Amino acid sequence: MQSNPRIQQQLAAWVEENKGHVILGTTAQYIPELGKADPSKLGICMLDEDGNYYCAGDTDEKFTLQSISKALTFIALSCHYGLEFVLERVDVEPTGEAFNSIIPFEIHRPNKPFNPFINAGAITVSSLLPGRTSQKKYEYLLSFLEKLVGHPLEMDHDVYDSEWKSSHRNRALAYYLKEAGFLEIEVEEALDIYIRQCSIQVSTQDLALIGLIIAYDGYNPITEEKFFSEEIAQVAKVLMVTCGMYNSSGNFAAHVGIPAKSGVSGGIMAAVPPKLHSQTYEFRAGAGIGVYGPAIDVQGNSAAGTMMLRQISKEWDLSIF
Ligand code: DON
Repeated sequence: MQSNPRIQQQLAAWVEENKGHVILGTTAQYIPELGKADPSKLGICMLDEDGNYYCAGDTDEKFTLQSISKALTFIALSCHYGLEFVLERVDVEPTGEAFNSIIPFEIHRPNKPFNPFINAGAITVSSLLPGRTSQKKYEYLLSFLEKLVGHPLEMDHDVYDSEWKSSHRNRALAYYLKEAGFLEIEVEEALDIYIRQCSIQVSTQDLALIGLIIAYDGYNPITEEKFFSEEIAQVAKVLMVTCGMYNSSGNFAAHVGIPAKSGVSGGIMAAVPPKLHSQTYEFRAGAGIGVYGPAIDVQGNSAAGTMMLRQISKEWDLSIF
């Protein structure tokens, strides 16, 4: 189907309307390199099942995956070893604590990290990626992601260095994991692969495409390629709904209602499944969404990006609930 100019105009208008919300956030200061981003930026790309991209606002920027990578390593690892293997090593329970909190671990002493989207679970998942060294694990993940997006990807070395030097909390978490017997590799190796995956650069277009594939249960409806099973996609979407926006996940589910994963660089990847009985025509057959808005709120989610998704979901009836 042809691209629809009305959708394009509407999206551009909503980006303009939501730009004011950037003042509700600031760039991530705890990773100095991310702190340098321009907080006034806001952009969105939506991709439909026919391959039409609708992009508005600041969509020329590349930015790092950060926590969005956690959803992707979970999928990549599940593809390689099977879902059962992964779920034996990481749970699917939200914590209600900050993404890098040590509290749930310390208080509950669980027999596995609570979920793959908090840092403890994410570092565990990354450490399990196939390959003996962090370099090999990174190469596996990168090639998996490159197949999904259909072009080469690169790491942002400045962001990597900046996070490596300021990763005191993650290093502490990794030592906890090691002590609890959840890390089979050395702490520094686990941190290396985790920080590398967080530093992979993407565009809003890339996120929209991966979001569409997740929405279509591992299938790319444009190229007709199957990348992962329905079973894996289903658990990924459950995690995105329950933990994807950290401590705003409940609010995001109530007001946006789209499985999504955020990152502290200001990216959001969202997967809109097909909805045959939608009250509107737009994106009835589903969509992938990529958002960039580096001014993040206290929970670590793009402040204006979240507000914009709320408006889009309401107007186009995209909520899965
Ligand atoms: O581990 C960190 O702190 C970052 N590399 C990623 C955190 C993140 O993106 C949390 N998300 N909203």
